[in-house]
Amino acid sequence: MLGEAINNNAKTAALPYNFRETLVASQKVNWRIEDIIGGDKQLDFTKPFMPDSLARVSKLEFLNADEKLVLNQIKGHTYLQIFGLVEEFILPFVLDHVRPSLDEDDYRVRAFLQFAGEEAKHIQLFKTFTAEFHKTFPVKCDVIGPPSAVATAILVHQPLAVALAILLIEWMSQIHYTDSVKDNQDLDLQFKSLLKNHWLEEAQHAKLDTVMVEALAEGMTEAEIEAAVNEFLEIGSFLDEGLKQQTIFDLEAFERATNRELSESERQEFIAVQHQANRWTYLGSGMTHPRFLATLGKLSPAQRQRIEEVAPVFG
Ligand SMILES: [Fe+2]
Ligand SMILES: [Fe+2]
Repeated sequence: MLGEAINNNAKTAALPYNFRETLVASQKVNWRIEDIIGGDKQLDFTKPFMPDSLARVSKLEFLNADEKLVLNQIKGHTYLQIFGLVEEFILPFVLDHVRPSLDEDDYRVRAFLQFAGEEAKHIQLFKTFTAEFHKTFPVKCDVIGPPSAVATAILVHQPLAVALAILLIEWMSQIHYTDSVKDNQDLDLQFKSLLKNHWLEEAQHAKLDTVMVEALAEGMTEAEIEAAVNEFLEIGSFLDEGLKQQTIFDLEAFERATNRELSESERQEFIAVQHQANRWTYLGSGMTHPRFLATLGKLSPAQRQRIEEVAPVFG
């Protein structure tokens, strides 16, 4: 037993993060959905739901203040959908990653199961917020998907490519809160709480996903890592296509909600600005995260440089 414990410690010493510490941290954070939304915790539709650095509504100068607020809230709805969507492929991927080695390291198994359990909770959290949103918001807002089809399309890619996409998403959730939400006093309290609580649990996911990426890349040649990054970029392009379609859905929801029909030039500007806002929110902010780039650079400095060259497209 003692020998085994020492052996396990020796094994984890080489890892960038420790499974036991990650598990303890996540157990401390662990919150309940009903503590965040529902009951007396109602969305306040007089307030914005998203920080403007992500929503980029203020750039659309042909909208008045009320219209900007409506669009901001539609973008909040979109955030719930996009995160709900990506978490539906993260959940089975994490379960598949841990399933073949349930007997190897108890802390590793528990840390990854906790990770998966939290993603299942987050999916339900985003659905609960969506239901609350529709109790008040006057029109329907279409969304890309269904999530199961998106998950199927992404999970055909090799594990390292998917794990890199997940790593990008985990770090993205971190920078959204620390850079744009934490010090913002204007946001609806419930949305701010959602972004804070998501950040708290995703902090552990980012660490576990870093370990997962390193484990999957172990022993790979430079050419194999390049092939995985090719597929990672294919996942990025696939998601980007979805974001473009979502921008059009958001435009249609905006016109329905405000009873305003935009002119052709306004529509074009709306789509250009809002697609780029979505690119930054859901791809670029993760792709440029220093911790994401550090992990990629550890696998291959050349592939890190390649991603840094592509990143401005998603800026
Ligand atoms: Fe999550
Ligand atoms: Fe996560």
